[in-house]
Amino acid sequence: MTVYSRITGTGSYLPPRRITNADLVADLATRGIETSDDWIVERTGIRARHFADPGVFASDLGLEAARQALQAAGLTPSELDLIIVATSTPDMVFPSTACILQHKLGAAGGAAFDVQAVCSGFVYALTVADAMIRSGAARRALVVGAELFSRLLDFQDRTTCVLFGDGAGAVVLEASEQPGILASDLHADGRHVGILCVPGHVAGGQVLGDPLLKMDGQAVFKLAVGVLEDAARAALDKAGRTPQDIDWLIPHQANIRIIQSTARKLRLPMERVVVTVDQHGNTSAASIPLALDAGVRDGRIRPGQTLLLEGVGGGFTWGAVLLNL
Ligand code: ACO
Repeated sequence: MTVYSRITGTGSYLPPRRITNADLVADLATRGIETSDDWIVERTGIRARHFADPGVFASDLGLEAARQALQAAGLTPSELDLIIVATSTPDMVFPSTACILQHKLGAAGGAAFDVQAVCSGFVYALTVADAMIRSGAARRALVVGAELFSRLLDFQDRTTCVLFGDGAGAVVLEASEQPGILASDLHADGRHVGILCVPGHVAGGQVLGDPLLKMDGQAVFKLAVGVLEDAARAALDKAGRTPQDIDWLIPHQANIRIIQSTARKLRLPMERVVVTVDQHGNTSAASIPLALDAGVRDGRIRPGQTLLLEGVGGGFTWGAVLLNL
């Protein structure tokens, strides 16, 4: 019998502190940095984002999202045999945020590790979990994207600090006789490390180099619109499907213009695209599961539908996952 993996529950969590563009504009003004709601909305589509309070970690956001996903799947934490957390903002250098989350869930025993692919992290983690389930290495996986990008932002750099937010999303992925995940397509091109990075590192008890986010926005934009179409078509081809078979496109939520461009290239109307970037900003690895859960919980996304998830981010990394819910 062929074993597939299938999403059986979704969840998400946003920290309560909501920062509107107006809030951010006012805060940046006190630092001598000028920006405006109009600029942010016109160039990015972002209207608000959530920032976690000091002392809150990625595992805390992931825990809330995981609990919701487990409840939706009707599973208890002890039934999990795999936890993968996609994050670029881990609680500690080590151990992994997945191990910390496993402890907070009270789910000791199964495998737990992090995946680091920045904003593509969730599609990478989902692909790894799917492969482990299909190979028999796991049967019930929790896949989480959890990020605290507010901690990496340089609030003197208006070209980046208006773009990002904090949050977490999670799915439970279980072995199934029915196909859930149909195809994945992952890529990286390390030649572009420098266009989106946090170049600092820890050595000798100190942070060396700059630990704040650097981005060449235009270079990222140009690369993103090309590779997202390629990854989407590659995943569709692998499954013998076409863009017309997609009920919902759930893209990484970085910029509404990148999302619209991808939809246009795939000839998908925006009515079939889940958009949360306006309310969440760019939450990196958390953005796709946050958008997925938003669509599931408001009733737009229904069991049996075909979804295309796709991400792009630092590395440079990109990828797509096609699935039946
Ligand atoms: N407020 C007001 N003005 C601003 C701001 C701001 N916050 N930021 C930049 N500007 C100014 C610039 O200084 C520039 O002024 P100038 O013309 O006088 O020099 C002008 O606005 C235009 O700047 P551009 O950089 O050309 O603006 P652009 O239209 O390219 O938009 C943006 C910038 C939004 C960053 C865009 O390039 C983008 O979205 N890129 C992709 C980013 C992305 O998706 N990143 C996430 C990838 S996922 C991950 O892995 C984290």
